[in-house]
Order: sequence, then structure tokens, then C-alpha cells
Amino acid sequence: MKTRNIAFLGSACLVGLVSAFASNVAGAADAHDATAIGPLADWPRLHSPIARDAALEARVAEILAGMSLPQKIGQMTQAEIKSISPEQVREFHIGSVLNGGGSWPGKNKHARVGDWLALADAYYDASMTTGMPVPIPVIWGTDAVHGHSNVFGATIFPHNIGLGATRDPDLVAAIGTSTARAVRATGIDWVFAPAVPVVRNARWGRTYESFAEDAALVREYAAAETGGLQGRLSDDAGVVATAKHFLGDGGTQNGKDQGLTVTSLATLINVHGQGYFGAIEAGAQTVMISYNSWKDADSGVDHGKMHGNRELVTGALKDKMGFDGFIVSDWNAIGQLPGCTNASCAKAINAGIDMMMVPDDWKAFIENTIRQVEQGEIPMSRIDDAVTRILRVKLRAGLFDGRKPSANRYAGRMDAVQDRALARRAVRESLVLLKNDRGVLPLKPGSKVLVVGKSADSVADQSGGWTLTWQGTDNSNADFPNADSILAGIREAVGNGNVTFRDSPGDVDVAGFDAIVAVVGESPYAEGAGDIVPASTLSHSTRRPEDLALLQAIAGKGKPVVTVLLSGRPLYVNDLLNLSDAFVAAWLPGSEGKGVSDVLVGGADGKPAHNFTGRLSFSWPGVACPAPGARGAGDAPPLFGVGYGLSYGTDAAVGVLPVSIPSAGCADASTLSIFNMRDFAPFALHLSGNGEQFKLGADLNATVEWPRDQPLLRVRTVQISTQQDAKEVAWLGPASFLSRGQGASNFNPMRSANGALQFDTVLTTPPKSPVLASMECGRNCVASVDLTKMFAGLEPGRRHTVIVPLACFALRGADLGGIEVPFRITADKPFAAAFTAIQIVAGAGQDSSALDCDIQP
Ligand code: BGC
Ligand code: BGC
Repeated sequence: MKTRNIAFLGSACLVGLVSAFASNVAGAADAHDATAIGPLADWPRLHSPIARDAALEARVAEILAGMSLPQKIGQMTQAEIKSISPEQVREFHIGSVLNGGGSWPGKNKHARVGDWLALADAYYDASMTTGMPVPIPVIWGTDAVHGHSNVFGATIFPHNIGLGATRDPDLVAAIGTSTARAVRATGIDWVFAPAVPVVRNARWGRTYESFAEDAALVREYAAAETGGLQGRLSDDAGVVATAKHFLGDGGTQNGKDQGLTVTSLATLINVHGQGYFGAIEAGAQTVMISYNSWKDADSGVDHGKMHGNRELVTGALKDKMGFDGFIVSDWNAIGQLPGCTNASCAKAINAGIDMMMVPDDWKAFIENTIRQVEQGEIPMSRIDDAVTRILRVKLRAGLFDGRKPSANRYAGRMDAVQDRALARRAVRESLVLLKNDRGVLPLKPGSKVLVVGKSADSVADQSGGWTLTWQGTDNSNADFPNADSILAGIREAVGNGNVTFRDSPGDVDVAGFDAIVAVVGESPYAEGAGDIVPASTLSHSTRRPEDLALLQAIAGKGKPVVTVLLSGRPLYVNDLLNLSDAFVAAWLPGSEGKGVSDVLVGGADGKPAHNFTGRLSFSWPGVACPAPGARGAGDAPPLFGVGYGLSYGTDAAVGVLPVSIPSAGCADASTLSIFNMRDFAPFALHLSGNGEQFKLGADLNATVEWPRDQPLLRVRTVQISTQQDAKEVAWLGPASFLSRGQGASNFNPMRSANGALQFDTVLTTPPKSPVLASMECGRNCVASVDLTKMFAGLEPGRRHTVIVPLACFALRGADLGGIEVPFRITADKPFAAAFTAIQIVAGAGQDSSALDCDIQP
């Protein structure tokens, strides 16, 4: 690893911290965690460069002393801009607002910088006219996780996984500085970044939000980004930074988002804690708590959800590490604690969380919390600690300087949300050259190039999740006015007239070309939807067969093939590597496609103008079912280890790699997912009625009424367990809600394993006519189980898990060897219920709550 001087507050402390670690020898991290830094036996005392200031503390105490209980609880409340008006911010003394992913002023995706600023001013003005003795300015938080990425026209930087490959903390700091400026231009003063997970399993859909699988790298980058974002904090250029998500979000079993992290305390400290040490020692003023749970692998004790973990939130973070900023909860995460709801959770406050992200239910939350304090469920000392911390950070951040957001030096400036040259440099540095056999790269300017692939002309695919929309879906190039696709970059670099573009292979004659560039990869996803379930392999071609078909159509025809892979994680791509002469892992580079062509295409003299300097910060799998863990620990060594990356002039032929992709997926899959927030291939949700069928699609925001002229069904996205995970279906006439595969699936092995169809449901409107659950096995082959009694007996609003043994369908004539529709609910009005977690689960047929099909009609 290159060492560099990191030019920001706190770098000296960082060095001190490293040596403190080395001298403290006790405790044991998990054996497979080769990246552990420690071993540290306990949480270290950290030293923030933002020191306590006696005058500031006295001011905090004075303001606090003049506050009523409702005003204090208001300060502890963070509401979403879609759900709160400036007038309500004034009335309820709201401490903070946020805009969630894909939430913009006026619900307008194309809102201008000036629109953001005007809304920020309106919230600020409201907070300054509450009639409190000392008015407290509101603070606005946003997910500027790769540039100011919710804002139309802003520069989108590479996601953290690409920055991790640059090995350039100075660059990461510069991106932080640039992002802070962009955020201030829109009147916002707080950023929910850096994300500092240490990822143990690339199946996790948030892998790209992580810098590295290596804890030491994560710590270094966390410090760099925090330093860049906050700058001197109180001046016009800095924003408050957030280290997230505390703690162990990258360590969950199977890489499941919001899942269970089973590990030792030593590993929490020495691996998952490292990013926090870096960020806090660089001055980070807030920490966001994680959705995940923790079970101690040594003692076997299950500590439950982090949002309720007093020992870690207060004990470790505040008391032992000495963190004196404030702690914020994650989006509706308090509602996941047993006994809590989105609007009520004394337990989370008592655990030590200071500000609650209660996007929609903020009003009820304030009422409930006031009552809980009055009834002694939450001690006043806890409330005062929370408000003290919030005031401290607001004072340190200069919010009390009496200037509106629009008085900032960058306010309203379109040029401040753009930094294209810096982003383009970051893209260049982030590319990792995995293969360059026979030196086919660089391409020569003036050569004839065929560009193919669905992602070649897609800024959305380049950018990934958390871009304009939450999941990064539903964006087109028109949504990115200040951006270049990779195709645009190649056109400019080799000459427009020399480039031919085809997004799919068709009948391309490669004869007239000197080289072919294929830009393929993953399509955007974010939390939840991006997870790869245990039963699926990490093989890219299994999930995106069109990319393999494309390479097969162009390879082996005597023309060099250069593949550029866009992905949020390392993937098993041996088959694609074999079909390519050169292969570039480009991660999720963002708005500047020219950063890719800068390195792919040589200068006028044919020599490389920019070399490949990116090095893997994640190990790259050489098998389709890699064992979790760092640096390829487990059974199979990685194909390319952390630190791997070729450069021009490096002579290392990769050659032909073995290809083995188990068609049955990884391990003995015990669960087959059909739908859970999204469809799981090959299955897709459909609506049917009147002999017609309609594919529902992936849009999480729209309410669908189908058919349009005379609707039989109304479907909207709701929450059963995690946000936006379920579809609520209202029957307006006789119709079905179903999931259809692309061909037939064989459920016989699942049947032998006592499998069942299982789904979670919440009843809205009880049925008055029959509700049937069916499986279909081709023409005239259908078996139905009557669920009318079951649904009629459910308590509306409560989650219920329905389990129908596969044997029930077999008894009613289903051919389980050839199921085309594994899930179909047929009903008529009135009936409405939400559905999610639709799956076939081995063993579930024996569950005591499984339906007894003998008593079914
Ligand atoms: C994510 C956070 C994010 C928050 C606000 C949550 O679902 O986990 O990372 O900051 O939403 O959008
Ligand atoms: C919202 C996003 C938000 C996300 C956080 C979603 O339900 O639509 O705005 O960022 O939750 O997890």
C-alpha cells in the first residue's frame, strides 16, 4: 500500500492510534479475519481533533436550561421533508429534517439547486421563529454518499468500492471537500457519510458502499472522507459527517441486509470498529446506528438489534471511546425493536440514541416520548444528555452564526455541485485491470472500435444505487445533464466516426473493426434489493445471461475483446474473463465515463496517456460459491487477492480459467425466494384477470391500478418487515395476484424435504368470498388450497406467516416436477392484504403452524 500524508485535521492522531493498537496485545479476533488490526482487548479511548471548549459547553448548558420538555423532544426528532412542512418545524421545535434516497423538494426529481436552497431557508426560518428563549437552528441531513447524489445535475463520484481501489486517501479527502461544497450549495449542512462497513460477504447489496474488506484500509479512508467533508466544520465549506452504521453491518450472516452478525466482541472491536476509530479521530460529529443485530460468538448471547444495545451505544461509543457528538437512529429502525413501533421506543433512547430518524411518524413519536419521560420510562438525564450533544454539534458546526443557508458562500451555485475533473480523475484511479493478455490495451486513437453492451451508454448503470432515486432505478441519461456515458468517452477518445455502438449483439459483423469493447454488468440496486441470497451463486452470467450471450457472440472472431464490468462487488466471472482479452473492473464510476476512456485509449502517439493504478480492495472470487470471510479465507483462495491489479507494462497473462457454475446454486439451498421487496429470478410478479396478464415490474413508488379502464386490482408498495418490502393488493373485482417463472421449476426435491409455500401477509380488508392459493403446472394443471377461513380469521394490521405444505398442492393434483406458477392468490372484492417474503422453504411443511390440508375442502 502506498503511504501518503493525509492533509486534514486528525492525521497525527491517527498515527498515534495505530501505535496504540500495536502495543496492546490481548483478546482474539475470529481466526478467519486476517484483516483484523488489533488485537485490542477493549474499546480504545479516542481523541477527536475537535476538542471540548468550555465557553461552548457553558452556552449549551444555558440554552438547555431554558428549554421545555416538548422542545427537547422536538430537538431529538428528525422528520422527512415529504412529511413535514416548515410551519410544523416551527410548531414542534423540530431538531432536524432529512431527505431520504429519492426525495427531493416538491417531489421533483429535477429540482434545481435554488429549489433545494429555498426549502432549506424555509425550514431554517421556521426554526428561528419558534418563540423559544434561544431559537435553535434546524439541521438537515442527506445521503450524499458519492457526491450530492440526490441532486439533479450534480457530479456523481465513484461509489466507495471504487475509491477503495484508488489507494489514494488524499483523493478521498478531496472528494469529501468537494461534496461538502455541493451540499452547502443546496443549503444542507449534514451528510450521512462516510459508510464504514468492513464487508465479510459480497452477497450484501451494500458492498459498494464500503471502501474495502480490509479493516485498516477502511479506517484510513474513513478518516480521509470525514476530514474532507467536515473541513474546519464551522466555516462555509464544511458539513457535519456521519460514520455509519454502528456496528457490524458488514458482518451479517450470508451478507443479509439488516441481518444478524454472529461474531466475537474482539472482532467487533478489531475489525468492524476500525472505521469508527478513523472517523472519530478525524472529528466525525455524528454516528448512525445499524439495523443489524449482534450475537456474541463466544458466549452465545444474542444481544438483539443494535438500536437497543446500551452496552455498545452508550458503553462503548460514548463512555469508553469518548465520542461526544450525537448518535442518530436509522430510518424507522426503532420500530424493529421488540415492543417498539416507528412512533414509540423508549428502549432506543435509553440505549443512548440521541436523535431519532422517524421520517413519517414524527408527531406521534414526540407525543409518545413526552409521555414516556413524564411517566419515568426515560430519565430526564438521558434527554438532557441527548439535547446537550445535539446542541454541541450545532454550535460547533456554526449553525448558530445567525446566517440563513442562502447566506453561505456557495449557496445556490450550480458550479458548486459540479466537480467533473476531480470525479474523472477518481474514475481513472479506481479502475482495476484484471487481465490484459497479449497487451490488447491501450486502444489506439483512430482505430475502428465496436462498442457493445447494455451498460455502454447508461449513466444510471455507471452510477448504481443512491443516485437520484433510492435504488438508482428509474433513471435515464436524460436525468443526468452533466455526465458522460462510457460510450461518449470512447467516442471522443478514438474519434466519433470510428466508433459503432450496438447495445445487443444481433448480427454484428466484427470484420471491419480493430477492437471490440463490451460494457456489461449489474444494474442499479441499493439496500435490501441488492442482496444475493444464499441459494444463488456469485456468477454474474447466471443473473445476467444476456451479458454472457453478448460476449459469446463477439468473442473468438479474431478481434480483441475488451470487457468493462460495472459492478457493486467482486463477482464470479471466469466465463467472461475467458471470452475477453482484456478485462477491467470499473465498479460504479458515476457521472464521468470519460475517466474510463482516459485509461482505455492511448494518447496520440499510441502510448498510454494514463496508466492503470487501481488495486483491488476486495478479493475477487475464483469459484461461484466462495466461502465468506476476508481475503478469500475458507476453502478456495481468491482468483485475485486484495492488492491485485495490472498496469501497462506488467506482463502477466491470465490465460484460460476453469469454469464451474453449479446449476443448483450454492450449497443445499433450503430456501427458494420468489418475492421479497423484489422479484427473484426466474420468478416475476404478475396481475391477471379477464384472461389478460400484466407484469408488475420493479417500480417501488407507483400505485398500479390494473387494467387501466376498469381496474380489477390496485397494488401499492408498503412495509411488512423492512421498508418497501411488500405489495398491498386490493381486489376490485375477480382477479389473481401471482408470480410466474420463466419456465417450469422442479419442486420435487423440496417436497421430499417437507417443503412448503410460505409468505408473510398483513390483512387490510377481510374477504367475503373465496380466497384461493394455487400452484400451476402447465396447461390445465392447477391445484388450489382454500385460504378463505384463514384470511377471514386474521386480525387486520398484524403480520402473519402463512405456510402451505407442498404436499397439499400435490394432493390436489399438482405436478411438482413442473411448476410454472408457484404462487397465485385468486379472490374477488372486497379483499385486501399485503404480501411479502414469498418463498419455498424446506422443512417448513412440518412447522406446527403449517396449514393442515386434510381439513381443507
Ligand atoms: C439507510 C441509511 C440512510 C438512511 C436515510 C437508511 O435506510 O440505511 O444509510 O442514511 O436510510 O436515507
Ligand atoms: C425511502 C427512501 C429512503 C429509504 C431509506 C425508503 O422507503 O423511499 O427515501 O432513503 O427508505 O431506507
